[in-house]
Amino acid sequence: MKVKKAVIPAAGLGTRMLPETKTLPKEMLPIVDKPAIQYVVEEAVNSGIEEILILTNRSKTVMDDYFDYHPELEAKLRAAGREDDANMIRKVADMAHFTFIRQKETLGLGHAVLCAKRFVGNEPFAVLLGDDIMKSDPPVTRQLIDAAEKYNCSAMGGRHVPLKEIGKYCTTRYESIPGEEKIFHLLEAIEKPRPEQVITDFAILGRYVFTPEIFEVLEHQTTGFNGEIQLTDAIDGLAKRSKVVAVDFEGRRFDTGSMTGYLETVLEYALESEKTGAWLKEYILKKAEEWK
Ligand code: UTP
Repeated sequence: MKVKKAVIPAAGLGTRMLPETKTLPKEMLPIVDKPAIQYVVEEAVNSGIEEILILTNRSKTVMDDYFDYHPELEAKLRAAGREDDANMIRKVADMAHFTFIRQKETLGLGHAVLCAKRFVGNEPFAVLLGDDIMKSDPPVTRQLIDAAEKYNCSAMGGRHVPLKEIGKYCTTRYESIPGEEKIFHLLEAIEKPRPEQVITDFAILGRYVFTPEIFEVLEHQTTGFNGEIQLTDAIDGLAKRSKVVAVDFEGRRFDTGSMTGYLETVLEYALESEKTGAWLKEYILKKAEEWK
């Protein structure tokens, strides 16, 4: 199985980040000097993905613009001798072959993935949520592609989360695979479980590799939690009819779609950045002195 296509759903309404997200997509919020979605695209590209579909909506056209050329700006930068900057902004548009389509109604993540059916065709594909940044080497999507290729089936990325927080994610039932520590056979998944529904602390989070069979499930998927077509419900349906593996991936996950998650991501990346790290450390230390 070769996975060369990825889908990045970025058409959500971002209601946890209002009023900011009224006009600016949360996926475009800066993490130091790059929008969040660029980190997601880079992960896909570094995992061997060549074609990327970004799902947007009518108020998110700024994402198409970002992954396009900007000849006027480039010319200005080159005229000013800023060749490196001109090359850098061109590279953003050349990282992969990009396609943009609109999810015409915000009916949920499962519906967003179903909108990718024509783009995907009859190939396996990766899904990377546009507001989740994963920091890891090898990239999380690569880890999932390796598992999907090894077992010739869909592979879901997940982590063990504190049980008291599992209600924010999904809970799963799985069984071990002999000789594997980090890859399991997935049997069941329940979105946003109520306490009495919790099965395990292992939640599927932000990264997936699917065979096209997921579309057969999604086409018949009824609405679930919050009245939305939930991807987790379709994963549950897929796991009940075919082999699906779950991968306890290596790496750190940043949820940029919540206020505190966004601030944590910015601080982590700003501390590591050559441009801002030393300054930020000094600033934090100064603040800590003031708070003593
Ligand atoms: P979230 O649930 O985190 O995004 O979906 P949201 O709905 O925009 O956020 P809140 O809860 O209202 O703040 C995860 C990813 O799936 C996309 C989002 O853009 C986000 O990247 N998504 C979600 C879609 O593309 N379409 C949808 O219908 C729902």
